[in-house]
Amino acid sequence: MIRLQNIQRRYISDSVETTALADIDLDVEAGEFLAIMGPSGCGKSTLLNTLGTVDRPTSGHYWFAGQDLARRDEAALARFRAETLGFVFQSFNLIDELTIQENIELGLTYRKDAPGDRRERVAAAMDRVGVSHRARHFPHQLSGGQQQRAAIARAIIGEPKLILADEPTGNLDSENGAQVMDILTSLNAEGATIVMVTHSPAHADMARRRIDMLDGRIVSSVARAI
Ligand SMILES: Nc1ncnc2c1ncn2[C@@H]1O[C@H](COP(=O)(O)OP(=O)(O)O)[C@@H](O)[C@H]1O
Ligand SMILES: [Mg+2]
Repeated sequence: MIRLQNIQRRYISDSVETTALADIDLDVEAGEFLAIMGPSGCGKSTLLNTLGTVDRPTSGHYWFAGQDLARRDEAALARFRAETLGFVFQSFNLIDELTIQENIELGLTYRKDAPGDRRERVAAAMDRVGVSHRARHFPHQLSGGQQQRAAIARAIIGEPKLILADEPTGNLDSENGAQVMDILTSLNAEGATIVMVTHSPAHADMARRRIDMLDGRIVSSVARAI
């Protein structure tokens, strides 16, 4: 599904050049669950954002289902993201002024569903992640675990082919982290492709493959025997 070829990403600020990604070659098969590990600053988020097309490589190719996204304009990439991707972040990124239900419905913004269908889909998504009883609450009224589960509902309600999660359990205690991992594992079992950055070796072990990064490079790739 995905092929990154010789991806480089350099940042230049105040005439200091930082190489965030160097010589990245990575294939991700449809249906994979890939974990990315490595020390802080090694380029994990840059790699994930590159996969999400919210960060553009300085050079290299990004093939998704046979198309080179590195050559697409911003409008085409915005459409690609809306139709294909679901993002989950460490800090949940829910909108404070919207209820949980409204936040989740945002995941359907660029979809052409009838309003009735939308309500049903929002209800089903809330049910799936166990936040139905908090539908009309605002994010600050929920625990971190509930907020992250709502954020996952927002990410998956449009049935994305690829879920990109950047330290999704990083702000959660172990019990809430385990609940989030259960949801991600079952989404993967149902066919979603998942790429997840994590600092937790236990959570990385729940993925089918793990890559380790150092200084902008992939230094190892290990598939789990299933
Ligand atoms: N917008 C930016 N401007 C300049 N440097 C950046 C920017 N974003 C990230 N970097 C640098 O790129 C490197 C990789 O960052 P990042 O991908 O966030 O690492 P990680 O997620 O593994 O902690 C770091 O050295 C970081 O300081
Ligand atoms: Mg990061």
